Amino acid sequence: MLCGAIPMRQSTKSEYDGTPLSAAELHQLEECAAREGVNVLLITERRSLDQALKLIQAGNSAQMDDPDFVDELKSWIRFSAKTSIKQADGLSGPSAGNPSSPDWLGPILFNLMFKKKTENRKIAKQVVSSAGLAVFVAEDETPEGWIEVGRSFERFALMATALGLCHAHVNMPIEVRTVRPEFAKWLGMAERRPDLVVRFGRAEPMPMSLRRSVDEVIIA
Ligand SMILES: Cc1cc2nc3c(=O)[nH]c(=O)nc-3n(C[C@H](O)[C@H](O)[C@H](O)COP(=O)(O)O)c2cc1C
Repeated sequence: MLCGAIPMRQSTKSEYDGTPLSAAELHQLEECAAREGVNVLLITERRSLDQALKLIQAGNSAQMDDPDFVDELKSWIRFSAKTSIKQADGLSGPSAGNPSSPDWLGPILFNLMFKKKTENRKIAKQVVSSAGLAVFVAEDETPEGWIEVGRSFERFALMATALGLCHAHVNMPIEVRTVRPEFAKWLGMAERRPDLVVRFGRAEPMPMSLRRSVDEVIIA
């Protein structure tokens, strides 16, 4: 069941339809993601989602104030369809709900339109329209612990796909050093270090991000 979902899985970066998941769906996600050494917290209560949103936006604001972060993000965007196909990596405009544009114009539009207020408003719509958030926390802060988190997340993502559900990262409160402890405290785990934050819900699939073939990325 999970293997069959691999070709369909994607990070769906659009707004979702706002409908809640059934108890059975939540149970299947939780059960599939469960691994020894990882805590998976599913947050679905509206008030908690609103509180989490504030921390996600705090992380996003800090990232957008960091020119190095913005430069790196820009370097991963494949503005034109031609470059997207040629490089077969990164983020294509359409996969994030933006039109393709010529390579000379894309960065200019990005500089004009990528503003903190607009992005935070977009994130609010994405989180409010989601059925919930999943937070993955390794019990051990070690490479082994982080690998288990990755495995747990992949199983969660594939089960969501198999159930016809969508997911996407909203990892900003993890990625910003100053927000991460605040986020851990809010989760009631002040002494721990949360590792991944993912939203989930229902939506139509978006165009897929392109990827290189397995032969091109595995060195035998
Ligand atoms: C550790 C990790 C953190 C990520 N954090 C974010 C994030 O904060 N925001 C986001 O939009 N995508 C995030 N992504 C998702 C990537 O953007 C996504 O994997 C990429 O778009 C590839 O798309 P696909 O999953 O559809 O193949 C993250 C992915 C990983 C593996």
